[in-house]
Amino acid sequence: MDPNVMILGSGHAVPERILSNSDLEVMVKTSDQWIVERTGIRQRHIAAPGAALSDLAASAAMAALDNAGLNPADIDLIILGTVSGDMKFPATACFVQEKIGAHGAVAFDISAACSGFLYSLQVAAAMMQGGNYRHALVIGGEILSALVDWKDRDTCVLFGDGAGAVVLGPSQQGRGLLGACMATDGRHTQLLHSPGGGSLHPPSAASLAAGLHFIRMEGREVFRHAVLSMEQALQKALLQAGVEVQALDLLIPHQANLRIIEAVGKRFDFPAERTLVNVDRFGNTSAASIPIALDEARRSGRLQPGDLVGLVTFGAGFTAAAAVLRI
Ligand code: ACO
Repeated sequence: MDPNVMILGSGHAVPERILSNSDLEVMVKTSDQWIVERTGIRQRHIAAPGAALSDLAASAAMAALDNAGLNPADIDLIILGTVSGDMKFPATACFVQEKIGAHGAVAFDISAACSGFLYSLQVAAAMMQGGNYRHALVIGGEILSALVDWKDRDTCVLFGDGAGAVVLGPSQQGRGLLGACMATDGRHTQLLHSPGGGSLHPPSAASLAAGLHFIRMEGREVFRHAVLSMEQALQKALLQAGVEVQALDLLIPHQANLRIIEAVGKRFDFPAERTLVNVDRFGNTSAASIPIALDEARRSGRLQPGDLVGLVTFGAGFTAAAAVLRI
């Protein structure tokens, strides 16, 4: 399809504090070797107690605006993908709107777990195509450390905190979003969830004691579905874009786990040299992982104007999404 929106700027922000695998070795029964072999993760950034996701998201947004050469007043839409917002309500995007001073922008959150950024990107693009929005901030951000059971070695080694953002604007010279795909499979909600704290299990002494507010995951099942769903989503986005996978200058898969990234690459016979990996430094930052990686690639020159990039993700829900863009 002809692109109608393109990325004008990008930015990211992560908390200062780094938690290494050796730090985790003294918290739970694990080892640096196990974590590196099974996940590829060496360290992750963790927010200080009391930190707000809206602060991280606002920092990422301001960096993206600066990179785009635009001001908050130029923004008329803010969509934030997250499952670890500041509060149950209002939407964390409302706090971001206030913090960056984008008072003319419509702002709301999208809950699609690790697919939050790519869902938000596609919703923003569709709204912009309608003609009422010219410049959008699309953000993916999480403070998943607030939802992690730090006594559960199965999950606590996997996640990190951070936020990434892009500014979308009208496309020029064939650059922008060429193909995209979103998918949902609600049959597997129980394989990856945080069941407590909502209306089904409101916060209570009993729900806290049962740890219902923590992330619960069936790791092996998630792994299996992730690889399949990411393959299917990327195939659909490539088909819509009308490009072969080998034409991609860079593939940015969701940074959940090096083995998932490698398995997806293998299914497409796609070279590792053209696949971005930063899970070793950030862990799985859920909705933030793709925009953080995208920003690193743009700023380091690994992605140049005119390059073709493929983005693909999978998360709780189950949700999956992909996008093909000419940068
Ligand atoms: N340190 C040491 N040992 C551990 C740890 C740990 N942190 N965690 C689990 N183990 C043990 C288990 O208890 C088990 O021990 P046992 O054999 O004595 O029973 C053994 O290691 C193997 O456990 P498995 O769960 O079978 O290990 P597996 O090879 O499946 O790796 C992992 C686990 C890394 C979670 C893997 O299943 C995975 O990557 N799943 C995908 C999950 C994911 O990425 N989720 C993120 C959210 S979704 C997304 O972003 C895509």
